Amino acid sequence: MITLGIETSCDETAVALFDSTQGLLHEAVYSQIDLHADFGGVVPELASRDHCRKLLEILSTGTNNFDLTQIDRIAYTAGPGLLGALIVGEAFAQGLALALNKPLIPVNHLEAHVLAPFLDFQDHDFPFTCLLVSGGHSLIIDAQKFESYKIIGQSLDDAIGEAFDKVAKLMHLGYPGGPMIEQKALDGDPKKYVFPRPMLHSGTLDMSFSGLKTAVLYEVQKINDLPAEIPHIAASFQQAAFDVLEKKIVQSFLETGNETLVLAGGVAANKTLRQRMSSLQEALGVKVLYPPIKHCTDNAAMIAYLGSLKDIGKNDYNSSATAKWPLNMI
Ligand code: KG4
Ligand code: ZN
Repeated sequence: MITLGIETSCDETAVALFDSTQGLLHEAVYSQIDLHADFGGVVPELASRDHCRKLLEILSTGTNNFDLTQIDRIAYTAGPGLLGALIVGEAFAQGLALALNKPLIPVNHLEAHVLAPFLDFQDHDFPFTCLLVSGGHSLIIDAQKFESYKIIGQSLDDAIGEAFDKVAKLMHLGYPGGPMIEQKALDGDPKKYVFPRPMLHSGTLDMSFSGLKTAVLYEVQKINDLPAEIPHIAASFQQAAFDVLEKKIVQSFLETGNETLVLAGGVAANKTLRQRMSSLQEALGVKVLYPPIKHCTDNAAMIAYLGSLKDIGKNDYNSSATAKWPLNMI
């Protein structure tokens, strides 16, 4: 059975073909990063227009030799995400489904991230813990079985990727900020500045990154020679943010008894974070899985895969797009 996946929830336009017996047949992602760079963040209306512009192009160029009538079903991201961007993907999926007379499956973007490791790790299985850290989310998810997920910890304000982006912006490092902070931090002393670790000792698995970002802002305002201090600020900020993540993940293992951690989201590309999470393998005797970066960040392979597992619903072509769609409502 072949599933076409379509992803347009934020600033990546992506399509993929997943075959239930052969695995992934094709995937393509177009990133809008350059479009939004000057604004220091994603501009929703520009994102929607660009999905309109790119969807047909990336579907047709990548699937030249593929007969689209061979598709058995079409899955698309219906939420959560930017509503306008979601509606573009949905309308595209509806048009294709109608033209090809195929069933349509709206899927949850967060559930797709949680299940993405099944694309790359053959022996991966439930239960496991997923740390989803991106520009829009900081979630610790207890995945007990298919369609049974519990958010056991989350940021109560800014997502961690958002904090990386804002800290980079206030040091004029460009967008997206995460990779720049990581690179600058390589030459910095992570102990030079002592930034707060919000909610480190809260006793819950919830997190907060807004106060940390503001603490960096106040420190930067006091510095005379900012260029010289950027590496130290970046390293100290990164250390504080990852101290919080590590503490919460350790606590989550004690609470759930799970033995596997999967990383997802753009921040999972950070090598320092990966090293810190890897060190838990020995310290706690758990397994830590890193899907390839292309399957950590937004992609359509995870959408097609998830769509291949779902029951076909009532399939009435009504709109399912929704900016907010919590995992516990699946
Ligand atoms: O998952 P993603 O590509 O898109 C969504 O947010 O949905 O994640 C993008 C986020 C941005 O905030 C970006 O700054 C952050 O991931 N990021 C990083 C790194 N690479 C990307 N943060 C820290 N270190 C990185 N190397
Ligand atoms: Zn995502």
